[in-house]
Amino acid sequence: MATVQLKNICKSYAKRETVHDINLTIEDHEFMVLVGPSGCGKSTTLRMIAGLEDITSGQLLIDGVDVTDTAPQKRDIAMVFQSYALYPHMTAYRNMAFGLMKTTRLSKAEIDARIREAAEILHITDLLDRRPKELSGGERQRVAIGRALVRQPKVFLFDEPLSNLDAKLRNRMRGELKRLHQELGLTVIYVTHDQIEAMTLGTRVAMMSKGQLQQVGAPMEIYMRPSNTFVATFIGSPEMGLVPCRSDGAGRIGHAAFGAGIDVGGELPDEVILGVRPEEISFVTAAAGMARGRVERTELIGAEALVEVALGADRVVVKSPVALAPEAGSEVGLDFDLSRARLFHAGTGQAIASEA
Ligand SMILES: Nc1ncnc2c1ncn2[C@@H]1O[C@H](COP(=O)(O)OP(=O)(O)O)[C@@H](O)[C@H]1O
Ligand SMILES: [Mg+2]
Repeated sequence: MATVQLKNICKSYAKRETVHDINLTIEDHEFMVLVGPSGCGKSTTLRMIAGLEDITSGQLLIDGVDVTDTAPQKRDIAMVFQSYALYPHMTAYRNMAFGLMKTTRLSKAEIDARIREAAEILHITDLLDRRPKELSGGERQRVAIGRALVRQPKVFLFDEPLSNLDAKLRNRMRGELKRLHQELGLTVIYVTHDQIEAMTLGTRVAMMSKGQLQQVGAPMEIYMRPSNTFVATFIGSPEMGLVPCRSDGAGRIGHAAFGAGIDVGGELPDEVILGVRPEEISFVTAAAGMARGRVERTELIGAEALVEVALGADRVVVKSPVALAPEAGSEVGLDFDLSRARLFHAGTGQAIASEA
């Protein structure tokens, strides 16, 4: 069993509040990803969970026990850092053994068994005699993960563990982390600024901005129903197009590029923002579309093209099969998949609840 509960957690440095009133429960065996732009307070939050930073106010519970003021080594948590933080003068084996020798009463044979098992899982058995400088970045990262695994903690904390790896290796390690989580039933809290890592790894995702939690939910839930325009544009690439519109009070929204307007139904405030993802827009002939625009730029990305279309002063990106992608400069008609489009309050950016 391992649940982690953050209750009204705040952090101030000097007098500036950096993390504001975080309430979040991580369930047993969950892979919770804390995602957000650089500087939003992810590492600070994780370090408070680890006990590496004091909690200014609020409460932290692990398995229901208040550990707000408990020393880090007594929290039964292991953390893996972006920088790996391996001891340079020790072999991979010693790096993995060191913490166990210091903090547990395990026998040499027990420690050895744990290291062999972790090395097997991580495919680093052949590397155990090497020092960090004799290992590649990916191998170092495995050793750092191994060092956490051998401790068999209740909870694993990861702070951007893949950021120093090249794209291909990052992709592979992502798959391996997912496998480890599933096979070993780990409870993980994972910090990243990378929305793709968040979407692919998380059983749930907690999206942060400026020290505040914006939304917590399953990846697809956040993708399909973002709670505000910040989450809407952070998750998904290329990002969701946001088109400011006026509503006529009878469920129809208008924009300079919309002709007669688009019927979306429901009761709406006067000023709304229509949010459409690139895959929810399709090209039709210029006269036939819900909207009419001008192609600014077309980017081929293999089988698909990303087409940037100006709707008056606004812009949307359309993901289109290459064969159907119009050329820059052409006038096009656009249809939106209204079953998936979202509306936000123009003033606050908050999602307007759909009736569905
Ligand atoms: N020890 C510290 N003293 C003062 N400010 C800090 C300290 N650590 C982090 N901060 C500030 O807190 C904010 C959040 O930092 P951090 O949690 O590292 O963000 P993230 O991990 O999301 O990039 C940043 O503005 C950062 O400059
Ligand atoms: Mg950080």
